Amino acid sequence: AIERTLSIIKPDATKRNLTGKINAKFEDAGLRIIAQKRIKLTKEQAGTFYEVHKERPFYDELCGFMASAPVVVQVLEGEGAIAKNREVMGATNPSDAAAGTIRAEFAESVGENSVHGSDAPETAAAEIAYFFSGLELVG
Ligand code: CMP
Repeated sequence: AIERTLSIIKPDATKRNLTGKINAKFEDAGLRIIAQKRIKLTKEQAGTFYEVHKERPFYDELCGFMASAPVVVQVLEGEGAIAKNREVMGATNPSDAAAGTIRAEFAESVGENSVHGSDAPETAAAEIAYFFSGLELVG
């Protein structure tokens, strides 16, 4: 099925001017970028976005990192977009990520891992709605 998923290019990647190279990986995999904006999150906004992780030991560090520099939030659309995006990103920890994936090529650590992608249809819908209105999604 044609799906939509929420992607975030994280501060470690925007700081190193990797937005274009990461977008090329998505587009080469057949994902269409149907919405995109560069924003600077507050730590509170990052905290709300990552609320499901609030009991984890890395939550405070994660929220501080996500607010440390601009991010690019985007909606990717395509056949099986949620799984396809996760395949292109590679494993959360770059040392486990397959060759050629975004995290294998660009990520610096498990925390500063260059990209985020929704993990399921329900979370994709909620994460897209957190950053975009329906009018901003131009498929
Ligand atoms: P992401 O897909 O954005 O979802 C939650 C994030 O938490 C994850 O990517 C990692 O960047 C981060 N994370 C996961 N495990 C750790 C960890 N052990 N230390 C720091 N950050 C982590």
